[in-house]
Amino acid sequence: MTKTHARTPVTKAVVPAAGLGTRFLPATKATPKEMLPVVDKPAIQYVVEEAAAAGLSDILMVTGRNKRALEDHFDRAYELEELLTRKGDHDRLRRVQESVQLANMHYVRQGDPKGLGHAVSVAEQHVAGQPFAVLLGDDLIDPRDPLLSRMIEVQQELGGSVVALMEVDPAQIHLYGCAAVKPNGLGEDVFRITDLVEKPDTAEAPSNYAVIGRYILDPAVFDVLRDTAPGRGGEIQLTDALRELATREENAGGPVHGVLFKGRRYDTGDRGDYLRAIVRLACERDDLGPEFRDWLRRFVATEMQG
Ligand code: G1P
Repeated sequence: MTKTHARTPVTKAVVPAAGLGTRFLPATKATPKEMLPVVDKPAIQYVVEEAAAAGLSDILMVTGRNKRALEDHFDRAYELEELLTRKGDHDRLRRVQESVQLANMHYVRQGDPKGLGHAVSVAEQHVAGQPFAVLLGDDLIDPRDPLLSRMIEVQQELGGSVVALMEVDPAQIHLYGCAAVKPNGLGEDVFRITDLVEKPDTAEAPSNYAVIGRYILDPAVFDVLRDTAPGRGGEIQLTDALRELATREENAGGPVHGVLFKGRRYDTGDRGDYLRAIVRLACERDDLGPEFRDWLRRFVATEMQG
């Protein structure tokens, strides 16, 4: 792709993390759902690592009550670090410090939980008129299948906003934002979005292209969100604001493009997918994988029969 316009670079990411995590109660009664471990790292760390790997070193987390553990996780833990230093446990010390060095973390509270669109709108001051990324904590993208850097590349080339799309079984589309698309001649993985609808019934869905939780947004989204009435579930939906931007040309904050993702994604907000993510990532780890795979093979061969 050749760059035709000098555009404002994307350097900031917004990570909404104010949800209550009711699907994981009682685990999430006193612990934020974003802190649930996927193997031995909290789910949210994978998301921050993904943003950092795409060059986004400024991360704003939109949090709520009961979320202090998130701030602590990305901060120094002096007592622990001192203890590990004294013991000479350099490997664990490195792992404790890793999360602190990933990015410059900032936090803002959402206040009333009025939906994803509302969570994004509280980032307005922080992103200060630049295009920015949004990463939803429930969606874990396998680090070997880069998505965000491709989305940034497309945004820099085409302007406007970019959403990540994945083809899903039509029976599942009611769980997602759904996009109507047309080709825009930029390759097989890039589309122009012509319409968006939040969690449609299968019969009314314009396609089986689901919006997965990665977005590069033009700052015009904030003005649109201010005028966006509560939609599906009585919440202010980001999908509804993007639907409006999809009708506009670039000089008015549009349009919206889609990047089709064909890699591995886990929905850690769903208990079944959460377990699958842990098993897959554990199997692939150099340190745990060989032994765990052996055990899993035996487990499936014996315990899972009949
Ligand atoms: C949110 C968005 C939806 C998107 C989904 C991706 O829904 O509103 O458009 O498809 O994330 O995970 P949620 O899953 O938070 O209900």
